[in-house]
Amino acid sequence: MASTHGAHRILVASNRGPVSYELRADGELAAKRGGGGLVSGLSAIGPDAGALWVCSALGVGDREAVRRGVGEAGVRMLDIDETVFADAYNGIANSVLWFVHHMLYQTPREPVFDAEFRRQWASYEAYNRAFAQALADDAAPGAVVVVQDYHLTLVPGMLRVLRPDLRIGHFSHTPWAPVDYFRMLPDDIAEQVLRGMLGADRLGFLTHRWADAFTDCCEELVGGLGDTRVGVHGLGADADFLRRRSREADVGARMAALREEIGPGRKTIVRVDRTELSKNIVRGLLAYRQLLKDQPSRRGHVVHLAFAYPSRQDLAVYRDYTAEVRRVTDEINSEYGTPGWTPVILHVKDDFARSLAAYRLADVALVNPIRDGMNLVAKEVPVVSDEGCALVLSREAGAYEELGEDAITVNPYDVIGTARALHEALSMPPHERAERSKRLAAAGTALPPAQWFLDQLRELER
Ligand code: G6P
Repeated sequence: MASTHGAHRILVASNRGPVSYELRADGELAAKRGGGGLVSGLSAIGPDAGALWVCSALGVGDREAVRRGVGEAGVRMLDIDETVFADAYNGIANSVLWFVHHMLYQTPREPVFDAEFRRQWASYEAYNRAFAQALADDAAPGAVVVVQDYHLTLVPGMLRVLRPDLRIGHFSHTPWAPVDYFRMLPDDIAEQVLRGMLGADRLGFLTHRWADAFTDCCEELVGGLGDTRVGVHGLGADADFLRRRSREADVGARMAALREEIGPGRKTIVRVDRTELSKNIVRGLLAYRQLLKDQPSRRGHVVHLAFAYPSRQDLAVYRDYTAEVRRVTDEINSEYGTPGWTPVILHVKDDFARSLAAYRLADVALVNPIRDGMNLVAKEVPVVSDEGCALVLSREAGAYEELGEDAITVNPYDVIGTARALHEALSMPPHERAERSKRLAAAGTALPPAQWFLDQLRELER
């Protein structure tokens, strides 16, 4: 039997992989490497460990790469039927499961679990089955498999059936919905998700709050966790990488350009997000507008650097939200701006070096999601900021569990309260700000990605 198995001893599965391809006008494929905790975590085990990362082909470039046999050692991209992929990714993962866990529905009208939903659910099953099959084919006997996130909740259960010899883990990078919200899903679907995940030996979450919510769901809906263990691994920022990378020349150049845009002697409130409904960018802007209204002496002396990078633009609600971010920005700038001062500087083109430059310049970091699995920006800015920054942090971000003490915490729905928090952050004495920022940086880097990943492997091998 072992001879039909693959040779990989450690496998990671996620929807979005560590590399993506762009099909250029001249027909060439350009590879783009991604960042994030999983990429640096996996690098900790070294290239010789025989690890394999199974992911999906996301766009035209990726599909072309698969067809041409272009790829990287250690990465297997699955070219899943385009309609199946779109239903699973846009329809179920990002429009249903993401909405459930982030509690994003406008419930009088949504969700509607109708025949169209059932059709898409069948695609989600097919998509999960494709991953389970690929993992089953490539895993060595007794290998460890770590499945990531809400896209792949059914994989552990499916893989368990195909390969009972494997050690299977699943890690959720999102919040988990409270049981009253989770059970909005049709009963059979809710049960399928939970049982799918419980196919794993061990489930990982970013905070105790999310782990407890999952456990509650299991107790109410499927009679408990069974033999599956649940653990918490609070992914931290990668201090070494951030400190090194933020000192490089391109970041310096971006700082000079940003300083030019900001103007001399002004304080800077920085936010960096995907343009994601859960990030609460619009209320952040409204709070900033309220600050300018309530504190006339701040006008002309503060700038809000808002970096909002496009995300999930196949979905109409995300396109609308992106438009709203622009509209509110324009409103604030025309209401308060003067020839020498632009109150909000909005950048939408994803540029990591410029994000780091903004981190370095930040007097205040604004992280106000309505719900967020962790939020690494909250952990990264204090590490990178040149003068130490004050952090305005939503109590609904996972990072609140570790950073709550030294941040100025806000209820993300309370625009007036957030405006007040911004004022308090801007007014913080330099000494206090530096001290708090140092403690935030220490707390936010306590569990670097490498250790975060190794801990999970060790727990699975136990
Ligand atoms: C969150 C999820 C990830 C996802 C990322 C970007 O962080 O936990 O699984 O990859 O958002 O979203 P996208 O839909 O662009 O992959």
